[in-house]
Amino acid sequence: MDKKLSNLKKEIECFQAYTYDDIESFRIKFLGKKQGVLTILFKELKKYPIQERKIYGKKINEIKRKIQKKINMHSFKKLIKNDNFIHFDPTIPGKSIEIGSLHPISILKNRITNLFKKIGFSYVEGPEIEDDWHNFTALNIPIDHPSRDMQDTFFLYKNPDILLRTHTSSVQIRYMKKHSPPFRVFSIGKVYRNETISSRSYFMFHQMEAFYIDKKVSFSDLKQTIHYLIISLFGISRKIRFRPSYFPFTEPSAEVDISENRNIGWLEIMGCGMIDPKVLENVEIDPDIYSGFAFGIGIERLALLIYKIDDIRIYFENDTRFLKQFKSDLL
Ligand code: PHE
Repeated sequence: MDKKLSNLKKEIECFQAYTYDDIESFRIKFLGKKQGVLTILFKELKKYPIQERKIYGKKINEIKRKIQKKINMHSFKKLIKNDNFIHFDPTIPGKSIEIGSLHPISILKNRITNLFKKIGFSYVEGPEIEDDWHNFTALNIPIDHPSRDMQDTFFLYKNPDILLRTHTSSVQIRYMKKHSPPFRVFSIGKVYRNETISSRSYFMFHQMEAFYIDKKVSFSDLKQTIHYLIISLFGISRKIRFRPSYFPFTEPSAEVDISENRNIGWLEIMGCGMIDPKVLENVEIDPDIYSGFAFGIGIERLALLIYKIDDIRIYFENDTRFLKQFKSDLL
């Protein structure tokens, strides 16, 4: 009996139905009222002594449940009208899974990273959630200084000492506190400003910060580095201009504009300057020995010029019709 039952079990487990007929004959073979294998087994049971009858009865019932389960599993095939499971056409090509591509901002980030690694800058990162000291105070922006209004900040309601960084200049502070010069460093990451959303501004964008500190670093080093970046990205056809400006953490400071392709005018792309001696003092670097430059550049602004997309919002909508267009750009 044992052998019989285990063979039976195997047969049931292996059963596969392809048509409704298959299921029906399976059902009749095993559960048919007169000749069904299980029906006969149940009848045979009566010959066994009570003890064994109990054991085998249990086992046979178990098999019966398995059969029932198989029938239920396959019963959806009843829906196939003409008993023909060959509705499936194996020659139809499958749906291909689309391969994603890099986001245009990532493409640009990688390009800039390669360019700056080539000229000896190392890449570092800082946190997007900052404290007041790193984002403002250490950068010579005191509590009541009007320049804090320049950047409408997302502060944490419960603890206004914590905020979403408004610029990547906070990375300068974090790095300079930990390392002693000379160094050439850059960072690329998200920054947040509480701005009204429009085609040219968003509450978040990407910024690249580069800074270089050594003995005798001068403004011409700064100009040279910015020229290198712009020429590498755009070729020599674009003009750039340095416009005197003000930042509390650089002195002198300038804003850099790039000529737009269609001669519409100038587009501001970055702020820069020589790091203010006070900032160096804040991070315990002697300004009598060291000097340095820093600049911060908006990646979306660059992308706008490279890809000629003049609505910043489209970068963050995750519309695959837009993102797909960058597939071929391998950089
Ligand atoms: N942090 C400035 C901004 O976000 C840009 C900047 C960086 C200016 C470094 C000077 C030096 O507007």
